[in-house]
Amino acid sequence: TMLTDIWETPEVLRRLLQAHLKGRAVEIPQLRSPLSRLGGQTPLELMASSSQARITEAFCGRILVIGSGTSWHSALLAEYLIEYMARIPVEAHYASEFRYRDAALRAGDVVFVVSMSGETTDAVESLRKVRSGGNGDKVLTCAVVNKPSSTLARESDFVINVQAGVEIGVASTKGFSATIMMFELLSLALAMECGTMSEPEISEFLRRLQELPEAMQQVLEKEAKPLAQTSGRPIGIGECPLWDISCQNVLAQNFIFLGRGLNFPVALEGAMKCKELAYIHAEGYPAAEMKHGPIALIDEFMPVVVVCPKADSTYEKIKSNIEEVKARKGATIAITERSNDELETLCEYVIAVPETHEYLMPLLAVLPLQLLAYMMGVLRGNAVNQPRGLVKTVSAS
Ligand code: AGP
Repeated sequence: TMLTDIWETPEVLRRLLQAHLKGRAVEIPQLRSPLSRLGGQTPLELMASSSQARITEAFCGRILVIGSGTSWHSALLAEYLIEYMARIPVEAHYASEFRYRDAALRAGDVVFVVSMSGETTDAVESLRKVRSGGNGDKVLTCAVVNKPSSTLARESDFVINVQAGVEIGVASTKGFSATIMMFELLSLALAMECGTMSEPEISEFLRRLQELPEAMQQVLEKEAKPLAQTSGRPIGIGECPLWDISCQNVLAQNFIFLGRGLNFPVALEGAMKCKELAYIHAEGYPAAEMKHGPIALIDEFMPVVVVCPKADSTYEKIKSNIEEVKARKGATIAITERSNDELETLCEYVIAVPETHEYLMPLLAVLPLQLLAYMMGVLRGNAVNQPRGLVKTVSAS
């Protein structure tokens, strides 16, 4: 079931870390690289083994990341991660838009196409558009997939396999987390080679990275274990906090999910899960954008989920966004660190996750959002493993 997929996430990430963190050196995610366009090294190896200057010179310093649905959320998160850590400009694109867009590609651009199935038509056609374009032979393409034998992987210059294992649920959960982990590793590898992170910053990030699978396990033990332990009997009030929150909000007709910085794509993913599993309308917004319209919707009938880790540099700002919601009788569900007790009085519900690096928080914050949508879907009697109208691979043109 989909719950099984979510439970497997910590082990999937533990395996990825073991595969790529040999000692300290971060292995560039394993690449099939027949390519030697730039003299021997594959462009990503070149990119990761050169100074920032050579990257700019060799690749015009630009990366594009393309995907659909949850894979677009991964692409958007990759944009923040690579820019924050390796200081290389990145653009995230919807595959369904990119395939029809007359994109201004330049020699040396590097294009990542993200697709767990590797068969999504919009993603495959976006890749073909890149390769057939004017600079197609000078643009490097990389498929980020969960199926290395897929069409996208076969037609790309090289492949990053996120190795999430078979994902049972139609809604992507561990696939999303494994993809994000790959982009965390890629960003770190680039940062280490480009010298854009100091030694202490790299050590702190590596330390938090190694702790992450255990931290994720703790979130699941706290939020989802009670669900598995009831073996059919009714779940008592207080036995499973997230279940209580789901019960109290399952009849809402609309949700808003808010986040800032690299937690904005997490808010988008939480809204996506709410739609596809609970069949409840939900929108994800950059928290400050609420003032430019959506705030008119806030009332006591629309739950507002806010991803607001204190470790994030925008925390004080997002706290004021929560106060704006409260002033309009809006109920807020906050995702924050368990050491942060400032939000208890401000928010109706606080879902606490372990502390981690601000760049790794998306991997923890997304878990309660996936579980919230799953639980409300179950409460509504929805087919959460095979939601109505959804297929695992959108290969219709
Ligand atoms: C995610 O839960 C959805 N099932 C859907 O948005 C999915 O991410 C999208 O269809 C892309 O699929 P892909 O990663 O296989 O290309």
